[in-house]
Amino acid sequence: MKLAVAIDGPAGAGKSTIAKILGKKFDLMYINTGAMYRAVTFVAMKNNIAPTDIETLCSEVKKMEMHFENDELYLNGENINDRLTLPDISKNVSEYAAIKEVRTLLVDLQRNMAQKYDSIMDGRDIGTVVLKDAKYKFFLTATPEERADRRYKEFKEKHLDVKYEDILEDIKKRDYYDTHREVDPLRKADDAVQIDTTGLDIDGVVNKISKYIVK
Ligand code: CDP
Ligand code: CDP
Repeated sequence: MKLAVAIDGPAGAGKSTIAKILGKKFDLMYINTGAMYRAVTFVAMKNNIAPTDIETLCSEVKKMEMHFENDELYLNGENINDRLTLPDISKNVSEYAAIKEVRTLLVDLQRNMAQKYDSIMDGRDIGTVVLKDAKYKFFLTATPEERADRRYKEFKEKHLDVKYEDILEDIKKRDYYDTHREVDPLRKADDAVQIDTTGLDIDGVVNKISKYIVK
């Protein structure tokens, strides 16, 4: 059996940053499931497929070959990472991610990846659905304001023109949507260790989690 580490939590909690570092430290493949939902959104928007047109959407999703290399998502052989974090995708992703049929297809792909490699996977439903039997589960949180501030700084570093208020609003909306949707909503698994990262830097979080993992 392969070793699996599950990391869940809301947007900007630090999941991907922490998962990448832990992946290197413990030699685990990092699987960013948020990027997979973003890639579906990217394809849907590019082809003008509305979230109500589930049949067309699913037939497109079935054609998507997705894999990770050096922590980045490749779609049909192309590295599309840069396009996935654009505000337009962020605004729409939760709606596409709420579609049951889309989730079934992606959860299957995610489980296949975890069967092949020792992995660290982050998302919203990893500890509760995708890898229910993961040996280690963590649930990261932080206040919406701190999470928006982290994202704001990130955009500023990339010289992107964004408003803090818009980011905060997007984060709050997605929090609401992700925790209230019918299918596999964001919630802490009963056996996950919860870590409030408010006021905690990246090293602080990595150190806390590392104490649990034995490989
Ligand atoms: O990076 P950030 O936390 O902003 O978001 P993400 O992890 O890239 O996920 C983007 C969106 O995909 C989330 O807001 C969820 O709506 C959805 N998602 C999901 O439903 N299930 C997952 N396992 C991962 C992401
Ligand atoms: O994946 P998720 O949306 O949960 O968050 P992330 O993209 O890993 O982190 C969002 C931003 O917060 C990044 O720029 C991280 O460097 C930063 N961060 C931080 O400042 N302090 C932490 N404890 C965790 C993340």
